Amino acid sequence: MTQSTPQTMGQQYGRRSWAEPWKIKMVEPIRVISREERAKAMTEAGYNTFLLRSADVYIDLLTDSGTSAMSDRQWAGIMLGDEAYAGSRNFYHLEEAVQTYYGYRYLVPTHQGRGAEHLISQALIKPGQYLPGNMYFTTTRLHQELAGGTFVDVIIDEAHDPYNLHPFKGNVDLDKLQALIDKVGAERIPYVSLAGTVNMAGGQPVSMANVRALRELCDRHGVPIYLDATRMVENAYFIQEQEEGYADKSIAEITKEFCGYTDGAWMSAKKDHLVNIGGWLAVNDAELFDALRNLVVIYEGLHTYGGMAGRDMEALAIGIEEAVQDDHVHARVGQVRYLGDLLTCWGIPMVQPVGGHAIFLEARGFYPHMPQDHLPAQTLAAELYLDSGVRGMERGIVSAGRDPKTGDHRRPALELMRLAIPRRVYTQAHMDVVAEAIKAAYDAREGKLGLKFVYEPKHLRFFQARFEPME
Ligand SMILES: Cc1ncc(COP(=O)(O)O)c(C=O)c1O
Repeated sequence: MTQSTPQTMGQQYGRRSWAEPWKIKMVEPIRVISREERAKAMTEAGYNTFLLRSADVYIDLLTDSGTSAMSDRQWAGIMLGDEAYAGSRNFYHLEEAVQTYYGYRYLVPTHQGRGAEHLISQALIKPGQYLPGNMYFTTTRLHQELAGGTFVDVIIDEAHDPYNLHPFKGNVDLDKLQALIDKVGAERIPYVSLAGTVNMAGGQPVSMANVRALRELCDRHGVPIYLDATRMVENAYFIQEQEEGYADKSIAEITKEFCGYTDGAWMSAKKDHLVNIGGWLAVNDAELFDALRNLVVIYEGLHTYGGMAGRDMEALAIGIEEAVQDDHVHARVGQVRYLGDLLTCWGIPMVQPVGGHAIFLEARGFYPHMPQDHLPAQTLAAELYLDSGVRGMERGIVSAGRDPKTGDHRRPALELMRLAIPRRVYTQAHMDVVAEAIKAAYDAREGKLGLKFVYEPKHLRFFQARFEPME
């Protein structure tokens, strides 16, 4: 048997290898339990990966939310927590960081992203209004609906095709938006709900040209734009890499320019900002700020902590600065791509191009004969865990929920299983193990029958639903 000379990844691509811009100072042991134990754990969890205990998980790619590793500077910041009820100095540091890197004038802290979504929805949406957006997100849409609004998808068609290689699949289709304005009237659109890198489309970015054109269109009709900035920094990386005129601009400059086309943003700091908890809402309009600052004391806490401890705000302020460093974002998106490139070369069906924070497996490509009502992506998440102890989550029919008017399942074009990569947590060796586990699940795809609901909660059912195998 001849053995070829092993090659590093850089050599395979004909370039020098690069590495993460950090070294590890503290470790958390992980272990893989036996196949029998995994089968028992999965049955007890009702085939829902959200209901597994983390001790039963080997490599945890359920989410990139709140799962980042903090830096030594952030941990040092934890010790600088000023736990005053009012006017904590950490709040002012956070306010300054958001103003510096995102450019918005006024800041309202919240305990996490959905706290901010709740406040902005309550402040701006009246019953009977419409919220156009570049694809729905689960918690965002629910808060818009609970405030009496109806979400309308105005993302470009390419976003609904997992194999379309458009570099900016998160773009808003301006014709769709114009058609909605013509149909319902601009006065019934409180704002455009724009997301930087679109989670449900596979972590796909929005171009600067698109947000600029969106601003022009919205200005003509007096409609504000509010941004879900949760993964905006990752969006900036794609602009830097792929959009003409941005190669020499820093991630920080691109992020601020993009935000400059919007009127404000809400943020789940648990993602881009490298903290385990936290969020914020920032706006430019003084009157709106007044209303939000009043609402936050009802639902989150005083306007200078909004549900976070002083130490959390300090770690977050430091995380904001670390998040926009070019070498960090390059390594972060690069790791996702490393995994994506392996799977692409092996012909695994998945969303292309590879997005910023996760790999999205295309479950219908795994199980082409399985009807969507047999929950292909939920099935794939269960199968992957059973095979390897790797945990991902469903992003298909289960996550889409039911139409509030008809009560029927919403059946999205994309039936995906997401493997989100926590920031600064796993190594290239972990990614190799994950890639091989996905390949094993793909090779074992024949004959799977799917799952059925045995318990379905009313709101955000994917978090707590229980399932049983179809027979
Ligand atoms: C795009 C997007 N927006 C909003 C949220 C909600 O944030 P949180 O989980 O912090 O409440 C999330 C969380 O997953 C998200 O991915």
